[in-house]
Amino acid sequence: LGRGIIVTLEAVRFKFQVQVGEIRSLPGLIDNNKGRYAVVIFEDLYMYLNLQGQNRANLDQYCRDFNVGILYLFYFYSKAKIVIAKMVGSFPLRFMSSVRLKDYEINATSPLLRITRPGSVVSTSIVPVPSPNDWTIFLPYHHTYTAVTLASRLKPPKLRKTKRRSNHLNSACGLEKLIPVLLDQGLYDGIQRVFFGNNLKFWLQKVLFLDALSYLSYGRLSLPLERYFQIDIDDIFVGVAESRLLVNDVQALLNFQTELRKNVPGFTYQLGFSGKFIYSGTNLESEGDRMLLKLADNFSWFPHMWSHMQAHWFSNASKLCEYMDINRQFALRHSLNTSSNYAVAPHHAGVYPVHQQLYHCWRKVWNITSTSSEEYPNLRPDHRRKGFIYRNIMVIPRQTCSLFTHTMVLDMYPGGKEVLLESIDGGSLFQSFLYNQVNVFMTHQSNYGNDRLGLFTFDRAMKFLYKWTNLRLVYEPPEVLGKRYFNLYPEEVEPVWSNPCLNRRHLEIWSEEKNCSSFPKFVVVGPQKTGTTALYWFLNMHPHVKSNLPSPTTFEEVQFFSGPNYFKGIDWYMSFFPTPENNTVLFEKSATYFDQKVVPKRLKTLLPSKHIVVILIDPALRAYSWYQHMRSHHDAFALKYSFYETITAHRGVDPDGLISLQRRCLDPGFYANHLENWLDFIQPQFIIIVDGDMLKTDPAAAMFQLQKSLGFTEIYQYNKILKFDERKGFFCQVQPKGKSKCLGQSKGRKYPEMEDESWKYLTKYYEEANLKLFKLLERLKKPIPEWLKKKSK
Ligand code: A3P
Repeated sequence: LGRGIIVTLEAVRFKFQVQVGEIRSLPGLIDNNKGRYAVVIFEDLYMYLNLQGQNRANLDQYCRDFNVGILYLFYFYSKAKIVIAKMVGSFPLRFMSSVRLKDYEINATSPLLRITRPGSVVSTSIVPVPSPNDWTIFLPYHHTYTAVTLASRLKPPKLRKTKRRSNHLNSACGLEKLIPVLLDQGLYDGIQRVFFGNNLKFWLQKVLFLDALSYLSYGRLSLPLERYFQIDIDDIFVGVAESRLLVNDVQALLNFQTELRKNVPGFTYQLGFSGKFIYSGTNLESEGDRMLLKLADNFSWFPHMWSHMQAHWFSNASKLCEYMDINRQFALRHSLNTSSNYAVAPHHAGVYPVHQQLYHCWRKVWNITSTSSEEYPNLRPDHRRKGFIYRNIMVIPRQTCSLFTHTMVLDMYPGGKEVLLESIDGGSLFQSFLYNQVNVFMTHQSNYGNDRLGLFTFDRAMKFLYKWTNLRLVYEPPEVLGKRYFNLYPEEVEPVWSNPCLNRRHLEIWSEEKNCSSFPKFVVVGPQKTGTTALYWFLNMHPHVKSNLPSPTTFEEVQFFSGPNYFKGIDWYMSFFPTPENNTVLFEKSATYFDQKVVPKRLKTLLPSKHIVVILIDPALRAYSWYQHMRSHHDAFALKYSFYETITAHRGVDPDGLISLQRRCLDPGFYANHLENWLDFIQPQFIIIVDGDMLKTDPAAAMFQLQKSLGFTEIYQYNKILKFDERKGFFCQVQPKGKSKCLGQSKGRKYPEMEDESWKYLTKYYEEANLKLFKLLERLKKPIPEWLKKKSK
């Protein structure tokens, strides 16, 4: 049941927090004098009744203070087979479990109803729950309680004390009908509540659940009533003979569209074409194709590639563009209206995982601005499909509607026609409309011949929707729909790239030329000024370790996960890595990663189970090194202000530029906070800590430990190749004839030691942060750098 609630909340994209198990203490309810939660849901009424200590009183008070309602669902107590009317805590209310119901209906006068429209009676015994007699009904004895739904009793269970129990039922507020969903309007103790006498499996409960959330949150958790939708008919000329449209089918399609427009102004089918296959059916079907062309102006057309080929087969963009252009010539010859600037890729190939050539050619040949796919981030679970924008092309999630190329005849529907009917009558198709404010439905040409299941399905779906809900269907052309989608869900604009090798479907539509062995096996993430370049250099000395290729702008760092490069996509990222030989370990180093909030999630999604390497030096020294770095880059503020002035500057008093320099000096040094952000995504065993002091003073030892932690089988002996260079003051690489090669001037700079007052100030400033780091590393069982041990004494 808990999972059912979570799925629903995820589907409607309401934010939530889950607490599992016995509730010993409540989560923090108030934040900055504001209530953090708009509704409280109990998976089971008993959890609320059994809240320990002051918890229940505190929760009730919170609900009163912040206008927050409580929603209760009900487990079926298989042990509680005996039907007894039990008191609900101290409320003037009783409930009875194990009741069999029939004739389920909505109470038309309930103030709870918003999306739900009283339809007719669901007359069968209520089957969609685990078993029909799983219902709990409520028996209220106070006028604060009103029925949201009503039902009759199917038949009294055969129990010994039947007479007494039926008395309870009949005395339920004098109602003849039973109440499976009950609203407490808050007149009794100032808290509004909704009681569901069951779980969310029955489709009507799902609609009521959304209404209950809206009601109990005083409108804060409400979806609008508009549902924007689009129906694509893919592969309009692609089907094999005997599965294609005849003249009458085309006419029926147009008639249906005309009919639909009465309720949904402007509704227009999107027809996806691969021109090569026109007239490839029977003679009669060719007549159908001709009819489609004759009536073409009535529809909106979108390209599907000339012969339905998959974009990832083309590594050469100009070939792909040429190929697309053939389909464009076809559209021009037949005056197809392609002004929607929308396209769909056969098999989703190239859309996700992104094949950048496809996006390039779509823009170049067709000026495509939007597409849809069911592959991002994954096909399943479908309620978590999302959209993203890449190269200015909006990718919005696509919904299936239980119609596939092979589903043409109702009686031959896989699993029986009930499967399709159930999906329409409250099942997955209905729920798609219910939960998604924007729907792009995928259908196929073959769904519009034979039994015309495409027309049948949506006709029935819309009738069902209008009968039971107040939802209003609205049509918008694809580009407008795409913009609407990202206005509704701006957090989805930025993609999060996943690893194509971890999803079989993604792998199938990923270019054979690409492979996951070109991804790094570990990443050095910084922070800046801790010796990251030295580490990068040392690692490259290892005969079996290879770094990313240099970038023309950011040199040895790719800076993919932390900045705008991320939006160039994984093809771009992979271009920095050679295909490694068998025993070569690839790695990347970008010191900008460590303290950027977005990085851990992105890195984990693309490179799961890969190590990250963090170098830690005294944060005070790191701050000073950054300051010196900025001075040598002629930063106006670093040149004008001393280090002490920089670190002690005050926001609002001192210039913004100085404050920004101060933050870049100081913020990365809160190591524990940043590490905690990493730990939200990366398991501790994949985090390797390098003591930056040791890297400086005894690099061979530091490299030995690092190689061990990375699980290298061949440990390279760095003491043979690294030697302290008096002139440089750091370890350098031994060269033939006793010479040594050191890092350039910008690494290991010469500058005066930090002044005492800054040192003292920073020692105090980082005292707590260092202690936190110490405890964190101890808890994670990580080696504690010597400098930190000394500080924590
Ligand atoms: P300073 O230049 O302030 O001394 P990063 O590469 O992350 O920017 O870090 C630069 C720092 O690496 C230098 O800071 C220096 O202290 C440190 N470092 C460690 N080992 C080094 C080495 N062998 N050569 C040069 N610098 C080294």
